[in-house]
Amino acid sequence: MAQNKQDLMEKVVSLCKRRGFVFHGSEIYGGLANTWDLGPLGVELKNNVLRAWWKFFVHGRRDIVGIDAAILMNPKVWKASGHVDSFNDAQIDCKECKKRFRADHLIEDALKDVKVEGLSTDDLKKLIDENDIKCPNCGAQNFTDVRTFNLLFQTHIGPVANDTDPIFLRGEIAQGMFVNFKNVLDTSRKKIPFGIASAGKAFRNEITPGNFIFRTLEFDLMEFEYFIKEDMWKEKFDYWLEEMHKWLEIVGINKENTRVRQHTDDELSHYSKKTVDIEYKTPFGWKELYGLAYRTDFDLRNHIEKSGADLNYFDQTTGEKYIPHVIEPTFGLSRTLLMVLLDAYDEEDVKDAKGSKETRIVLRLKPEIAPFRAAILPLMKKPELVEKADEVFGLLKDEFALDFDITGSIGKRYRRQDEIGTPYAITIDYDTLDDNSVTVRDRDTLKQDRVKISELVPILRGK
Ligand code: GAP
Repeated sequence: MAQNKQDLMEKVVSLCKRRGFVFHGSEIYGGLANTWDLGPLGVELKNNVLRAWWKFFVHGRRDIVGIDAAILMNPKVWKASGHVDSFNDAQIDCKECKKRFRADHLIEDALKDVKVEGLSTDDLKKLIDENDIKCPNCGAQNFTDVRTFNLLFQTHIGPVANDTDPIFLRGEIAQGMFVNFKNVLDTSRKKIPFGIASAGKAFRNEITPGNFIFRTLEFDLMEFEYFIKEDMWKEKFDYWLEEMHKWLEIVGINKENTRVRQHTDDELSHYSKKTVDIEYKTPFGWKELYGLAYRTDFDLRNHIEKSGADLNYFDQTTGEKYIPHVIEPTFGLSRTLLMVLLDAYDEEDVKDAKGSKETRIVLRLKPEIAPFRAAILPLMKKPELVEKADEVFGLLKDEFALDFDITGSIGKRYRRQDEIGTPYAITIDYDTLDDNSVTVRDRDTLKQDRVKISELVPILRGK
């Protein structure tokens, strides 16, 4: 059923809360703006996406290994990486209502087709004044000057804040992979080209977070640094873009809702020579989902200079020594969750048990990433049925994540499973006690088949 776009966002947000995918952070204390907690279903979805990603990009290949680096790093890392000096956004405040905005977003929202990348803070302010851009919150035209604002969160080690220099919560997970380049090279015996993958939290003091879990202060990332010789970069860049598209299929994001957009020169990050974004058509416009960047030898070169460590690569077959260049495919995991949910949400008209029309909400998630592969549903809350259902649960639990639901009518329980995207519902009734057969209901076709319990494993595997 076609979805009105704004409606779709509201419906997905409401479903997330209602069914336990995503909760407001610190909710009982009134929340903390733009922080979100994953509930019982959200954490399953996230873990499944991460597992599928790791399987495709790490376990499925011979040239990529993973690491899990510390979130807190020596502050010199962030100086060398350029984040202390260049990881900035331009902020502007409305003097009337005190609301804060990203100056570039304010202009882009008000003036179509205006390029703001690379403009100085003075030029941004001039554009705002000359075009009489008003505060979207209160309508006033009374802004502060534009100031740059560093996105790294700072903290201190030790009880007295002023005793030590600040340290930073990592603004990207990439640096953990760069500073471990030599460790991984020496221990994994990989030869160029090879990659180091990682997944985990990154933190950014965003000026204008929002749109649910799209832009938040802390978020999950999955990415890898692929180390190459300089002359390979074009070929590997194109190759990884294709692999990223294969991943979209694996995770179940409809290709028609995505597009590739190349960054203009002014827009490139401080480390990049070429970047493309894979954008997704969200209800709030085309937005960055993933990025692919050619980071040149920027990071390793700077870490060599600033740390004194030898991070060169020695090619034993040619005798060459060089600083590797890097292609970096990066995947926002938190954003993937939102896009997957938006893509999977569907509504259709069906008839209920009495023949009246009702709307069925169904999340058409890929079985591999759905929070549960199947729901075990004893037809009634009778001890003998619950005991048999327990037996079925025990047979399947080693291979599949399962829900077990004994409350409410079977119709209501089916609807709930549809809403959370469970591909199969397995109903245990009195016949099951006699012939060891169960009813398997398919989430998408609504077909119900009577099958033997012994046939369940291949059915659940096979979709
Ligand atoms: N190491 C490269 C890097 O971090 P990035 O484009 O700054 O690149 C990577 O971020 C991905 O992280 C983005 O493509 C996006 O999916 C996600 N992302 C960035 N900022 C985010 C935020 N504030 N909240 C949620 N996800 C974010």
